[in-house]
Amino acid sequence: MTTPSPVLSVRGLGVRFRMRGGRHIAAVTDATFDLAVGECLALVGESGCGKSVLASALLGLLPGNAQTTGSAVLGGGPPVDLLAADERTLARTVRGRRIGLVPQSPAAHLTPVRTVRSQLVEVLRELTGERGPAPGKAAEAAAERAAYPADHLDRYPHELSGGLAQRAATALALIGDAPLLLADEPTTGLDRELVDRTADELRRHTDDGRALLMITHDLAAAERIADRVAVMYAGRIVELSPARDFFGGEGPRHPYARGLLDALPERGFTPIPGMPPELGDLPDGCAFAARCPRATDLCATPPALAPGPGPAVACHHAEERVDA
Ligand SMILES: Nc1ncnc2c1ncn2[C@@H]1O[C@H](COP(=O)(O)OP(=O)(O)OP(=O)(O)O)[C@@H](O)[C@H]1O
Ligand code: SF4
Ligand SMILES: [Mg+2]
Repeated sequence: MTTPSPVLSVRGLGVRFRMRGGRHIAAVTDATFDLAVGECLALVGESGCGKSVLASALLGLLPGNAQTTGSAVLGGGPPVDLLAADERTLARTVRGRRIGLVPQSPAAHLTPVRTVRSQLVEVLRELTGERGPAPGKAAEAAAERAAYPADHLDRYPHELSGGLAQRAATALALIGDAPLLLADEPTTGLDRELVDRTADELRRHTDDGRALLMITHDLAAAERIADRVAVMYAGRIVELSPARDFFGGEGPRHPYARGLLDALPERGFTPIPGMPPELGDLPDGCAFAARCPRATDLCATPPALAPGPGPAVACHHAEERVDA
C-alpha cells in the first residue's frame, strides 16, 4: 500500500522582517515538517516565538517587509508551493478553499457590519455557489459544531464577547470544509468545558480526512487531540515528537520543551529562568543556551533538527536525561 502524500510539506521555511536601519528580525528559521491526512500537529511555544508568523507565511498573509525562504507545498490536490504562489492563486484557490484559518484575533477578522449568520452564509455561497435554503442550514450546523449559540446568530461582531467571537471564527473556518485547517489559538477566552468541546470538534473534523495545525498555549488541549507536538523556540522548531512520547513515556527531550511542561501548575509550576533572546539579535549557537541547564561549549554550534517517525530534537545533549 502506498502512503498518501502529505497535505502539507514544509521544508526550510524561514521568515525575516526587514526593519529600519538595515536590521532584520528572524521570526521563523528553518522550519521543516509534514502534515499527513487525518493528522493533528500542535505547535506550541512562548509568546513571540514565531507561531503566528509561520501560519501567516503559509497563507500568503505576511506584510510587505517580510522575506521568505524554503518551501511549503500544499498537497491533497494540485500541488502549490504556498511561498512561491502569486496572490491571485492564493486568494482564488487556496485561502478558504484548500486552507481554512481560525485567526488569532477573531474579532479583527469578522466583518463589522454583517451578522454572524450572514457571514457564514456568504462564505458558503462564495465557496460553493449554492443558493436557496441550504447555506442557511449549513450556517446553523457550523455554529452548532463550534458551540456557537443559535440564538446569537443574528448578532453583529461588536455585540460578541471574546469567547463568542472565537466560536464564530471557528464556525467560519469549519464551514469552508478545507482539507487543511490552521487554527491559531482556537480556544482563547473559552472555559475548560468549551475548550474540550472545541478541541474535540477540531479532532473530529481532522479524523474526517483533513489535517489540522493547531497553534496553542493550552498544552492540555494539545494533549487531548494532537498526534504530534512541535515546540518552537526563538523562531525554530526545537522538538517534533509524537504526542504520546511528549506527554507520556519519557516526556519531552529538549530542555526547553521539558521546561514548558514543568512550568504547568499540575507539574510543579517551575518557571524557565530568564527570557528568550531578541529575534533581531539571535546568538550564533543554540538560542536556548543562556537559559539551559545542560549548555556546554558544544552548544556554541547551532543544533539541527532531523524530523523522522520518532521524536526529533535540536539539541546536542538531548539524550542525556536530566531528571532533577
Ligand atoms: N510585521 C512585522 N514586523 C516585524 N516583526 C514582526 C512582524 N510581525 C511579527 N513580528 C515579530 O515576529 C515575532 C513572532 O511573532 P508571532 O506573532 O509569530 O509570535 P507568536 O509565537 O504567535 O506569539 P503569541 O503566542 O503571543 O501569539 C515577534 O517577535 C513579533 O514581534
Ligand atoms: S543545544 Fe545545548 S544549550 Fe541548546 S538546548 Fe541543547 S544542551 Fe541546551
Ligand atoms: Mg500568535
